[in-house]
Order: sequence, then structure tokens, then C-alpha cells
Amino acid sequence: MQSTSPIVFERVGLTYPTGVTALTDITLSIAPRSAVALVGPSGCGKTTLMRTIAGLEQVSTGTLTVAAGATRAMVFQSGLLFPWMSVADNISYGLMARGMPALQCRDRARQWAERMGLQRFVDAYPHQLSGGMQQRVGIARALAIEPDIVLFDEPFAALDAQTRLLMQELVCDLQRQGVCGTMVFVTHAIDEALIVADRIIVMSARPGRIIADVTPQLPDVPIAQKRALPAFTQAFADIWAQIRSEVELQMHEEVR
Ligand SMILES: Nc1ncnc2c1ncn2[C@@H]1O[C@H](COP(=O)(O)OP(=O)(O)OP(=O)(O)O)[C@@H](O)[C@H]1O
Ligand SMILES: [Mg+2]
Repeated sequence: MQSTSPIVFERVGLTYPTGVTALTDITLSIAPRSAVALVGPSGCGKTTLMRTIAGLEQVSTGTLTVAAGATRAMVFQSGLLFPWMSVADNISYGLMARGMPALQCRDRARQWAERMGLQRFVDAYPHQLSGGMQQRVGIARALAIEPDIVLFDEPFAALDAQTRLLMQELVCDLQRQGVCGTMVFVTHAIDEALIVADRIIVMSARPGRIIADVTPQLPDVPIAQKRALPAFTQAFADIWAQIRSEVELQMHEEVR
């Protein structure tokens, strides 16, 4: 097992070629196999930060070190499934790309479909599935390659409130089973951050920097009980107070 941090940011800044500075002075070290949530106002650079970890964006200043050879997978707001491929083919896409033999891919895809409660839909196409089911396929596709690092970028933002609760439970279960590797989860919902992660990083308005880094001590109880704990409500209020002042600051700047 890895003992050193798989993801280390040291004074990282990122300015896009358009001149927009998305990130500034990000110093952050993420523990192996931990679950970290990233919250902050809209446009503060959360997706940019995820894209740097995924290797899709280069930092402009400072250094970002991602463990050598670490496999990475990303789950987006909309499933981004291939509409012309069946559920099984979507799930096994990453395995095929890595050269796994077709029969083995098929087996693995079936196992993942089952794990996600999609066993009856392996031959269905994305348009035949509900939004929640499509997201489950997206998660299965990401996790099927057994990545070392999983990056979730607002994966449940487009889902209805009840489906969202079920999906949060699913992510917690997968994490408990140890299949999420090191997880970074972006969300606008503070309660969701507190449910799926142990550590919450709060970012400022753009250019994004870290303004709070909290690890609330919440017991490992069922989610419904967790939400009702005084420590949960307190952590929610603390994080919201930080974000609120950032959003208000941003609004004042916009009207000026
Ligand atoms: N490829 C790009 N080129 C230029 N500017 C970009 C690019 N991608 C993002 N930006 C800008 O960088 C800033 C940060 O964007 P980013 O998408 O990382 O924010 P975010 O926190 O994910 O926002 P949201 O909460 O709305 O998803 C924004 O001002 C955005 O317009
Ligand atoms: Mg984003």
C-alpha cells in the first residue's frame, strides 16, 4: 500500500492562456486512500484543480506531484456515456482501452453492473436509463479500471434530491469496500461533502485558494443519523459561513 501522499500541491498557481487566473497558491497534500471534498463558490477553480490532478491541465507556477504510475479516473456531472454503446460496453470501455481481452471485459462489466444494481440493464443503451442509472454507469466505468485516484466533479448535481441521497449512500458503500482508492469529490452541496468525505477543503472565490481545511470528527453511523448529529450541523454552519462571505465578496465586486 502507498504510504506517501499520492497527490501533493506546492504553491500551485494556474493562469489560462486567456489571462484568467483560476488557481493561486494552492498547497495541499492528500493522504493515500482518503476521501476529500472540495467546495467553493461557482467559478473558483474546482474543476481546474481536478483537471490538473487528472493530467489534463498544466500548472503555471509551483509544483504538483501525482504518484508515479497512479491510474486516474474522472466522473462528471452528466454521465458522458457513449450513446451508441450498451451499458456493458460503456462500463468496459476503459478496460478494453487497456488491452483486457473482450471476454474478460464482458465479465468484469457484468460484475460492476450487478454491484451497481444494473444487472437487468447490461444490454440497454444510455437513453433507456434514468439520470441516476446513467450516473451509476459512469461511476462503474470509472471504478472498473480499479483506479488509484478517483475524481468526482459534481457527479450528482443534475439528479433529483431523492436519487441524490441514494447515490451518496452508494459512494459511501463503495468507499467502505475500498474500491474508490484516493477520492477527490467536488460538490456545491456542503451536506454532501460532509457525507462522502472525511476532510473538506474550502476554496475562495476566483482565483481559488484554500481558505479552510476541516476534518470534522463524525462517528461512522448511518447517513440519516449522521445528518442529525450536532457535530454535523455545526460543521455545516462553519463551512457555509466561510463560503457565504466569499460569495458576498464576489457579488460586491460584480456590481462595482
Ligand atoms: N479552458 C479554459 N480557458 C480559459 N478559462 C477557463 C478555462 N476553464 C475554466 N476557465 C475559467 O477559470 C475559472 C475557474 O473555472 P472552473 O471551471 O475551474 O471553476 P469551478 O469552480 O469548477 O466552477 P463551477 O462551480 O461553476 O463548476 C473560471 O473563471 C473559468 O471561466
Ligand atoms: Mg466546475
